[in-house]
Amino acid sequence: MGEVTGMGNELTVKYNELTAEEFIFLWESVWGNAPTLEQTRLAMEHTLFRVSVFDGENIVAMARMNGDMGLAYYIKDVIVRPEYQGRGIGKMLIDELFRFINDNGVSGTDIFVELAAMPDKISFYEKFGFSANEAQRLGIMYKVK
Ligand SMILES: CC(C)(COP(=O)(O)OP(=O)(O)OC[C@H]1O[C@@H](n2cnc3c(N)ncnc32)[C@H](O)[C@@H]1OP(=O)(O)O)[C@@H](O)C(=O)NCCC(=O)NCCS
Repeated sequence: MGEVTGMGNELTVKYNELTAEEFIFLWESVWGNAPTLEQTRLAMEHTLFRVSVFDGENIVAMARMNGDMGLAYYIKDVIVRPEYQGRGIGKMLIDELFRFINDNGVSGTDIFVELAAMPDKISFYEKFGFSANEAQRLGIMYKVK
């Protein structure tokens, strides 16, 4: 757990404590229509690294990292609650995720870090060095039998 100051409020950063309930709350606050609690609990359990940011008792932001630690890291669900956007919290989340890679990746190697971004968020990620490549993102909502 860490303290972050200088953004108006004193915020607390927590590592690997993000719960499924908190995840769903933040998801609903920006995207609506969150996944189920059962799916989300499983996802939290298997996420490599979770970062959450609190203002007092209230969760205000989160981000998580999936991957295999060696070759592939995938950033998911970077969300800052609308009232807290524009204060540097999003940047802090990405910095925390990069720190996780630095702490765990094989020293001296290059590791491909991926994410999917909506068009209006691309320039946010470009600030950290992310860029689009020619590969297109393919997806399916696969129905589990
Ligand atoms: C995208 C998001 C995480 C940014 O978080 P934030 O806390 O507002 O960002 P910060 O205040 O840390 O901004 C860091 C820098 O990015 C810039 N920035 C923030 N949002 C931006 C955007 N949508 N487009 C371009 N630049 C942006 C800021 O101006 C700032 O620039 P500076 O360092 O030159 O001053 C936040 O807007 C969010 O949660 N949005 C809703 C959920 C979402 O869509 N997540 C992304 C999934 S693809």
